[in-house]
Formats: sequence, structure tokens, C-alpha cells
Amino acid sequence: MVTDSEKIKQFDPDGKWQSFVSSAPAVLVACANPHDTWERYDENDQRWVLDTSAAIENILIAMHALGLGAVWTLSFSKNIVRKVCSIPKHWQIISIVPFGYYDAESDVNKRMRPRRPLEEVAFLNDAETPFS
Ligand SMILES: Cc1cc2nc3c(=O)[nH]c(=O)nc-3n(C[C@H](O)[C@H](O)[C@H](O)COP(=O)(O)O)c2cc1C
Repeated sequence: MVTDSEKIKQFDPDGKWQSFVSSAPAVLVACANPHDTWERYDENDQRWVLDTSAAIENILIAMHALGLGAVWTLSFSKNIVRKVCSIPKHWQIISIVPFGYYDAESDVNKRMRPRRPLEEVAFLNDAETPFS
């Protein structure tokens, strides 16, 4: 968890990635150590990506329940974040999650993102029968 604003500002010094990261009051840096995982895992499975992703999703839901706004973010420089936070080489940086209290009055937060109909994304018994 990064709360040091000087460090957070360094994540995107030239504004090349995502501007909301630099202005976030806190940023979660989600990492996995592939060598510290269930030993029966085959490292090639990269299950640590799935494990960490599941943790990120759970954290997002918990943050939402606390009234916080957060964005799962993959568009950032891993090299910079690794350096700024002294993250060991053998840890994989999976994603970062900038978060804070969101502006409920902002248009962006009032707009509901469009959803594709269920039958376009879910199927029953085979991949040709839309689920309805
Ligand atoms: C793996 C992953 C990476 C993402 N990276 C970014 C990102 O770099 N920038 C961003 O604004 N949102 C990012 N998002 C958030 C998505 O754009 C989107 O807001 C989020 O998945 C919720 O989507 P939905 O409203 O369609 O359910 C990412 C989401 C995921 C799952």
C-alpha cells in the first residue's frame, strides 16, 4: 500500500500513462511472488496471476462497500513502480489500484457504463447456444 504522495507522484512523472494515478491519495500495488506459491503448482500455470487477480477483485468489492472509488489499472510503468517502491526483482507486479473517496456529483460517476446483453456473453451447453 502506497500512501506517500511524493512516491505516488513519481509513478507517472510525465503524465504518459493515467493521470488519475498521480492524484490518488493511496495506491495499492498488487504483487505476487511466484516462488512462494503452493508447491504443487506448476510455475508455468502462472496461477499466481489468477490468485492475485482474485484478491484484487475482492479488495475492489470491499473498497466499494466502504464507499471508496478505485480503478484496477494495468496501464502504468512496472519499471518505475518497482524502482519507486523498492520491489524485489523476484516479485511480479500484477496491477496497481489507485483509490480514494470519489466525487459522487461528477458526471463520470453518475453515468452507468453500458452492459452487453447476457445472451451475447453467456452460452448454454455449447458455445453456439446463447444463454437466455
Ligand atoms: C486487468 C484489468 C486492467 C485494467 N486496466 C485499466 C487501466 O489501465 N485503466 C483504466 O482506466 N481502467 C482499467 N481497468 C478497469 C476497466 O477499464 C473497467 O473500468 C473495469 O474493468 C470495470 O468494467 P465494467 O464497468 O465494464 O464492469 C482494468 C481492468 C482490468 C480487469
